[in-house]
Amino acid sequence: MLRDKGIDMTLHYKFNEQTYDPQSLKGKYRMKQFVRILAEYLGIKKGKALDIGCAMGISTFALEQLGHKPIGIDTSKYFIQRAKDIASRKKLSSKFYLKKAVDIETLKQTYNAVTFMGNPLPHFTMDELDTTIRKSWNVLNIEGVILFHYMDWIDRLFSSYKRMLVEKNAENEIMLSYHSTLDTETGAFERLFILPEKGEFFRGRFYIWSPWLIEFLLQKNRFKKIESTNLGGHMWVTKAIR
Ligand SMILES: C[S@@+](CC[C@H](N)C(=O)[O-])C[C@H]1O[C@@H](n2cnc3c(N)ncnc32)[C@H](O)[C@@H]1O
Repeated sequence: MLRDKGIDMTLHYKFNEQTYDPQSLKGKYRMKQFVRILAEYLGIKKGKALDIGCAMGISTFALEQLGHKPIGIDTSKYFIQRAKDIASRKKLSSKFYLKKAVDIETLKQTYNAVTFMGNPLPHFTMDELDTTIRKSWNVLNIEGVILFHYMDWIDRLFSSYKRMLVEKNAENEIMLSYHSTLDTETGAFERLFILPEKGEFFRGRFYIWSPWLIEFLLQKNRFKKIESTNLGGHMWVTKAIR
């Protein structure tokens, strides 16, 4: 019998831990990618930056490498603790807080940049992203930049969505997943994930985002100079100025 772990993405992140670990080979590769993307698209004076959905800090450390003073926030206690440990071991100045994106004003700081790197958007409902963008406008300095690096899920669903998927991680463990629901009232789909070696299954809920939806929320929340760029495949950067 498999154990039901409910709707929870913790197991998904645990399976893909190497991807989010700044010290793994994959993590180091992703950090280089982020440094390149941030250097090319952020284009602002160095200063304080808020990295939303930072996980173990790859994107936050990329900002620090470029000379910014970053704060990373995430809702995972485990990821935030790991990010803090790495920062203290490597004597890095990035700060990390356990915090939801919709509560960013409680950090009582202002920033030159607010970033969402490595596709954190599937965790956000329409309402949560709208609120987070509105609050980002409030905490950004004039001419500050908001930057999203994300997957266009509409494009993905039309072109290469896999109803069934077999994934292998760095430890050669297998994770199977199956499409289960498309909910067009909330803009989300669900997949059923099975970890055969662990004897566990869980469901993941992913909110669907695409450039025009993000651009609409940015316009609605008074951002200007909104620009989206396709990085190849399904990956995009959308940038706007406060
Ligand atoms: C796809 S990962 C990206 C992590 C990181 N930026 C990177 O690329 O390595 C998304 C992260 O967003 C976090 N997250 C989910 N919902 C969040 C929320 N409402 N506020 C802040 N972080 C959130 C998750 O815990 C997860 O670590």
